[in-house]
Amino acid sequence: MTKSQRMKSFCLQLRFKSTQLFIVAGAVLLALLVSLLCIGFTLRFEVEHAVANVADVDYWKDWVAIEQKLWYDKGIEELKRAMRVHSKQRQPRQVLLLMVHGIDAPALAAARFTTADISSHANYIWDRFPHAARLKNSCSYSSPCDAAAAFRALWSGVPLAAVQRLRSNCSSSSNESELFSVLQQAQLAGFRTGFVTNQRLTGALGAALYAQVTSSSWECDGLMPVGAIEAGCQDVAQQLISSATGQSLNVLLGGGRQLFNAKVPSFEWDPVDESLCRARAGRNLLRDWQNQKLKLKPSKRFELLQQAHELSSINGSSVDYLLGVLANGDLSGSAQAPTLQLMLNKTLQVLQRPGVGHLLVVEHHVKQPMLASEQLQLLNATLTDLLGHKELLTLVLLTNGNYLSASRDVSEETQLVSTLDELFQEPELELQRRLQQMPSESLLFAQGPKSLLFYGVHDETYLAQALSYALGIDVFGRQLIEDK
Ligand SMILES: *[C@@H]1O[C@H](CO)[C@@H](O)[C@H](O)[C@H]1NC(C)=O
Ligand SMILES: *[C@@H]1O[C@H](CO)[C@@H](O)[C@H](O)[C@H]1NC(C)=O
Ligand SMILES: *[C@@H]1O[C@H](CO)[C@@H](O)[C@H](O)[C@H]1NC(C)=O
Ligand SMILES: *[C@@H]1O[C@H](CO)[C@@H](O)[C@H](O)[C@H]1NC(C)=O
Ligand SMILES: *[C@@H]1O[C@H](CO)[C@@H](O)[C@H](O)[C@H]1NC(C)=O
Repeated sequence: MTKSQRMKSFCLQLRFKSTQLFIVAGAVLLALLVSLLCIGFTLRFEVEHAVANVADVDYWKDWVAIEQKLWYDKGIEELKRAMRVHSKQRQPRQVLLLMVHGIDAPALAAARFTTADISSHANYIWDRFPHAARLKNSCSYSSPCDAAAAFRALWSGVPLAAVQRLRSNCSSSSNESELFSVLQQAQLAGFRTGFVTNQRLTGALGAALYAQVTSSSWECDGLMPVGAIEAGCQDVAQQLISSATGQSLNVLLGGGRQLFNAKVPSFEWDPVDESLCRARAGRNLLRDWQNQKLKLKPSKRFELLQQAHELSSINGSSVDYLLGVLANGDLSGSAQAPTLQLMLNKTLQVLQRPGVGHLLVVEHHVKQPMLASEQLQLLNATLTDLLGHKELLTLVLLTNGNYLSASRDVSEETQLVSTLDELFQEPELELQRRLQQMPSESLLFAQGPKSLLFYGVHDETYLAQALSYALGIDVFGRQLIEDK
């Protein structure tokens, strides 16, 4: 063989060997990959399997005492439910926000365990909602704050301190301090809207939904200085009738007749509330509302109710606008107030229209702390009837603020003593009572599409922001505001 031939055969051999090597290496790699995949799948399957069949693990049952096994079995049922939790991410077409005042975490806990038998504690329908959150209550332990500002913060998503700085100046035409509430945002986005309260329609919570307020005591013109009226400032009752937001509200049910009209009937069951604002002579805002609706083009169907018993006979499905001012003062102060169930039934009839979404805000004030558990039971039953709609986002907010009593609003019941020292000087029972009345963080229970947004501890401003997002409102894209 010549040198070159030897070289050639060597090269051939080498090439042959390298091809072989390549095939072997490839096969080994492939095998490795397949085994890795197999191991991965097996592990994954095992993990899923183990979690899904938590109840099948024998040693639990063999080891533990009968009593403990019983409770573990119960716990496993709940665990299985927890693993099935899954919230729809599409947008809700309907939102029901029930705000219960005078009940917060400690009060709810107290209401649960009213009987001596702790195993039979009360379970409420919202306990079964898949999502819950706590809202920090900035109107809480620190010095009492103005209810009007607190609700404005809640509905506008702007912190309390900023809201207090932004007090709008009604004698100037600038609208720099105008804050859009979630209700206004929903209206701009084409939702039908409603507000139902067992207090007054002009109370702090309602006012923060539809009015630009300058002073919390200007609930009607009776308490406004003449100078302010002459400067063009409007009280809350006036704004409800004349503002665009107030006029667009499809449903308004609550009390406060004496703030709208100068002449009101007074009955034994529904006296004029001397501690509240009264309309000045000549005022008849309810008639004004009616005249306004008569002038609407194209014409709309509307209903103005002033007596509670009229409510049951109306057909909400054939009404576009419903205004029911059913008591002189707070609706809860009238012995003939309709039940919340009836009010919500009629309200939903008015709000529900094919192809249109709606936002309903309900305020329910629990007055006497002694009756809290009874009232919670009623709310529980009322809610039970309303739920079940697939496109409904339901929020139950339990809250209790530390408000100034000067504004005569929702909670005079939470008068805190100024220092803790002073507090601990009191006798045991009195101390217990006060501690129970101390406001705490608000509790929020959520169910339905987008309820997943409420998942932990949030600032109170989060509620408005999350709601806007859930409703798909592009308020921060500025377009809506500019179009207004
Ligand atoms: C609340 O309503 C549910 C039915 O939805 C019922 O099972 C439960 O017992 C009620 N709770 C109370 C405290 O009434
Ligand atoms: C309100 O606006 C008017 C005119 O712009 C101004 O003269 C007045 O000082 C303002 N008042 C307050 C309290 O800011
Ligand atoms: C504020 O006032 C200006 C001028 O009066 C108006 O063009 C603008 O639309 C108003 N903005 C809002 C948010 O109402
Ligand atoms: C209520 O009004 C709707 C729409 O106008 C109508 O279809 C319905 O039959 C009415 N219901 C009753 C009970 O009259
Ligand atoms: C209102 O009550 C009526 C009769 O009790 C019931 O048929 C109807 O479904 C209720 N409507 C709503 C919206 O809950």
